[in-house]
Amino acid sequence: MDKESIMSGTLQEEDKGQENILRPTTLSSFMGQEKVKSNLRVFVDAAKKRGDALDHVFLSAPPGLGKTTLAGIIANELGVPIRYTSAPVLEKPKDLAGILTNLTENSVFFIDEIHRLRPSLEEMLYIAMEDFELDWVVGQGPSARTMRVPLSPFTLIGATTKAGGVSSPLYSRFGITIRLDFYTPSELSEIIMRNEKILGIEFTPDAIEMLSTASRGTPRIANRLIKRLRDFASSEDTTVVDKTLLEKALKRLEINSIGLEAQDLNILRNIIKYYGGGPVGAETIAISIGESIDTLEDFYEPYLIQCGFIKRTPRGRVVTDKAYKLLGENGGPLGEGYGLFV
Ligand SMILES: Nc1ncnc2c1ncn2[C@@H]1O[C@H](COP(=O)(O)OP(=O)(O)OP(=O)(O)O)[C@@H](O)[C@H]1O
Ligand SMILES: [Mg+2]
Repeated sequence: MDKESIMSGTLQEEDKGQENILRPTTLSSFMGQEKVKSNLRVFVDAAKKRGDALDHVFLSAPPGLGKTTLAGIIANELGVPIRYTSAPVLEKPKDLAGILTNLTENSVFFIDEIHRLRPSLEEMLYIAMEDFELDWVVGQGPSARTMRVPLSPFTLIGATTKAGGVSSPLYSRFGITIRLDFYTPSELSEIIMRNEKILGIEFTPDAIEMLSTASRGTPRIANRLIKRLRDFASSEDTTVVDKTLLEKALKRLEINSIGLEAQDLNILRNIIKYYGGGPVGAETIAISIGESIDTLEDFYEPYLIQCGFIKRTPRGRVVTDKAYKLLGENGGPLGEGYGLFV
């Protein structure tokens, strides 16, 4: 996908400054995900009471649903520092060892994209997670020996968009596993109502409702759309977005009422037209729409599955009746955006 597409759940340059202002810092300001929050509240309080490090936490969700945000909140609620890093930047054992040996007692260590951790580092992490120790090789050749270095107890929070990409030995070492689901329109409405004020714009109630269903179940996209709507409003010299303005803007942005865009429909249409509705492998679909398999699997598919347009089967992806209803028996005419606004 075009990384700058407004509907991409992936963090973009423009989001960065904004994410800091809009990012909740406490469990109570983190909207939705009620079960996750109430469990975390119990685990965090218990760890604090015992004076122990919280168990290691595994966080999985599609982009933009709040993994990084939640990691910060956990550290904040525990009252401990957090150290952020991302698996792709950890190249050598010493990169990881350097961080581990500097962690303070009971603090949080966040590794983003943990499915991309190199195998040699993964093994180092096993011992660190389990025993709070590090095996460190000193010297070279025949005189080389392994030293056990003690570490302060810490909480590892590993985040990923690809839970299936994490090896089972690593996965099994996390005591707490959390999967964030897409947000419901009413949860997104709460987020929009909180953030419109911060961003200096106002939505009418029916516009909020509409925006919440067009945000693809994703807070980051809701926040980005609020900003775009602020631009449209400003070009019409108003600070209030009503349903008419919102509808017009969404059409111009080529986003339909449930947050689908042209590429979503291309995916469905390709499966219908060229693969008889499936089953067809994800790789084949990715090639047919000119996207990487990662973009297809991390971004497009989860939402299409959530909406009930696609099903995953052991033999590949299949479109559902709902997709035929949207696009017609033969997928409708090819051409950008057909079926987007029906
Ligand atoms: N539950 C929530 N309540 C309010 N705002 C939220 C919530 N979850 C996420 N957000 C908003 O969405 C933005 C994106 O969230 P975040 O960066 O935590 O997503 P992520 O899952 O880490 O994404 P990525 O996979 O790209 O790393 C945050 O800056 C925050 O403003
Ligand atoms: Mg993140």
